[in-house]
Amino acid sequence: MKLLVTGGAGFIGSEFVRQAVDLGIETVVVDKLTYAGDLERLKDVKNKVKFYKADIQNREFMEYIFKQEQPDTVVHWAAESHVDRSILDASPFIDTNVKGTQVLLDVARSSNVELFVNIATDEVYGELGEEGQFYEDTPLNPNSPYSVSKASADMLGRAYFRTYGLPVITVRPSNNYGWWQYPEKLIPVVILKALHDEPIPVYGTGENVREWLFVSDCAEAVFRIIEKGKPGEIYNVGSGEERRNIDVVRAVLDVLGKSEDLIEFVQDRPGHDFRYSLNTQKIEREIGWKAKVKFEEGIEETVKWYMENVDWALRKLDYLRDYWKKVYKK
Ligand SMILES: NC(=O)c1ccc[n+]([C@@H]2O[C@H](COP(=O)([O-])OP(=O)(O)OC[C@H]3O[C@@H](n4cnc5c(N)ncnc54)[C@H](O)[C@@H]3O)[C@@H](O)[C@H]2O)c1
Repeated sequence: MKLLVTGGAGFIGSEFVRQAVDLGIETVVVDKLTYAGDLERLKDVKNKVKFYKADIQNREFMEYIFKQEQPDTVVHWAAESHVDRSILDASPFIDTNVKGTQVLLDVARSSNVELFVNIATDEVYGELGEEGQFYEDTPLNPNSPYSVSKASADMLGRAYFRTYGLPVITVRPSNNYGWWQYPEKLIPVVILKALHDEPIPVYGTGENVREWLFVSDCAEAVFRIIEKGKPGEIYNVGSGEERRNIDVVRAVLDVLGKSEDLIEFVQDRPGHDFRYSLNTQKIEREIGWKAKVKFEEGIEETVKWYMENVDWALRKLDYLRDYWKKVYKK
């Protein structure tokens, strides 16, 4: 197999690249290195992969890379990935997630790739109340500019399968957490704020529920899907580990030995989806994959990693303080 991985310098993409190298797979990484991309995540494997700093929207450059590298399998992680940023400005989300995905699908199509794995998200389904689950055939009903852009990319991929026969598999993972996550997402924000004994912002009343998937489980699931999945199919990738945001924050504080008094409820995120929950019977039955990492284990592992790599996260702090002012309001 020769893999081309977009967004391979990002949080989940880099875990996927590290696992690809461990598996001895020849890997090419394409990443624009936005604020969220960082080659340090690939420091342990940098001599073993080929890297192109490139924007997936750049059609000519993509054509050049595909011609040079002749990948047979594409795994498309590259995206603008943060809901809150999409609320501040939707444009980069439409540009990268929709237009960029279109370029990539076109180039993959003319390069005759054998498999295109299109990474979507559980957020494309919209929100649930206290009960129920999303199945792969649940109609898409996204609510934020981020999830709309991801649903568009998801549907574009499926349209290229149906219309042109491009072998596209759609993967919809739930909320990831773990090492190397950019500290704008809930868990690393809590860790960084708590380490500085600063107030920890929690949206609304903290009741919103997410399904927490450890990053190594997510990457492993995609390798299993490459091996056993069928083009044209959709696979939910979840863990069953549903937690309310407030309980996630408490779990992190508990591991750090910090007081819950640091918690500060802030204005809710506009349009905040209440709950996501994936039904994973299909991937268990057809692929034989199930998440391994339990939430409590994953949280301990994550906190430990941030303590050991705190310099990496702290280097992002000046940039983040400015951003935090825009999104967390009392
Ligand atoms: N993090 C989650 O909880 C989660 C859950 C479900 C699905 N996903 C999806 O998984 C993928 C990876 O998520 P993540 O959390 O690792 O994101 P991330 O923001 O950490 O990484 C995204 C990477 O894409 C790169 N990128 C952005 N725009 C680009 C462009 N125009 N051209 C080339 N590269 C570009 C960035 O530089 C970065 O390295 C995304 O598609 C996301 O929507 C994420």
